[in-house]
Amino acid sequence: MQSMEAGSQGDLDAFDRHVGADGKVEPQDWMPAAYAKTLVRQISQHAHSEIIGMQPEGNWISRAPSLRRKVILMAKVQDEAGHGLYLYSAAETLGVSRDELEQQLLDGTAKYSSIFNYPTLTWADVGAIGWLVDGAAIVNQIPICRCSYGPYARAMVRICKEESFHQRQGFELMMALSKGTDAQKRMAQDALNRWWWPSVMMFGPPDGESVHSMQNMAWRIKLFSNDELRQKFIDMTVKQAEALGLTIPDPDLRFDEASGHWQVGEIDWDEFWSVVKGHGPCNRQRLAHRRDAHEAGAWVREAAVAFAAKERARSARKAA
Ligand code: 3HC
Repeated sequence: MQSMEAGSQGDLDAFDRHVGADGKVEPQDWMPAAYAKTLVRQISQHAHSEIIGMQPEGNWISRAPSLRRKVILMAKVQDEAGHGLYLYSAAETLGVSRDELEQQLLDGTAKYSSIFNYPTLTWADVGAIGWLVDGAAIVNQIPICRCSYGPYARAMVRICKEESFHQRQGFELMMALSKGTDAQKRMAQDALNRWWWPSVMMFGPPDGESVHSMQNMAWRIKLFSNDELRQKFIDMTVKQAEALGLTIPDPDLRFDEASGHWQVGEIDWDEFWSVVKGHGPCNRQRLAHRRDAHEAGAWVREAAVAFAAKERARSARKAA
């Protein structure tokens, strides 16, 4: 990729015109260092989210109520691992190594999405995550398929196709429960009660507190603001909850005829920032689990490095 030497004002103006006209930026193109920096920030957090996001649902693979549900859930959790790898690869095109990003996560200095710091208490949580969290992810990620950075946009195209399956299987699971026994319907409602607000918060802070939105929208990394995407998710999901026969846990929820949108009650931004800062219900558990998994996988990395060294030595002997 091209070095990040500081460009002239002309370079910066030309770059802004290019991305402003919906042009794509490729790894070998000149780009402002700040553009690369915010992309590494966002893409690495996105990748970390996919990897940590495997844990809440992974807890339920061994306890799925049927072979069919187990197979679906295994496929979904495996997909999330793949999404993480795509995204780490996209970040590497900006000159940062996967090891460096992984170490930041293991050290606890990297952010990942707040949503994954909540516990999965019942089987219905698996449905609520697919329906709400992957549903929110689709709303947030579809625009990124058109973002200005080529490798990120292209990674998103494949990821969004798989997210659609994730959302559909979650909604179908919630439909089965909400149309099932009274106990199953109560379990589905309880999961909605616990996952609704964290999903609404997942889109990030309100636009007035978003430090990156202004610049990232100018650079077309972000095509819509946090609140715009949040509103799109709310409008879509309220109707889906009605179809499920479930109640959105918000007594202040009302349809605003003038705007044509659903208005929600107060969002608890103190809770959001507390979770982002590491004080959520599962932050410590998620990182501890990630560190253990990294430790347990050391032998695989060592074996791969030893094998690669042996292969290099063998090819060198052959070439001599
Ligand atoms: N969780 C944790 N941190 C968050 C957050 C959240 N939900 N929302 C915002 N933040 C952080 C930002 O990272 C930023 O902190 P930083 O300066 O230390 O990086 C700060 O809060 C201010 O927020 P901004 O709105 O200014 O930040 P962004 O412009 O980056 O917007 C975002 C936040 C909308 C999440 C944006 O980063 C984004 O679109 N990221 C790509 C999508 C993504 O990462 N989704 C996460 C979930 S992945 C997923 O759902 C997988 C699926 O399979 C389930």
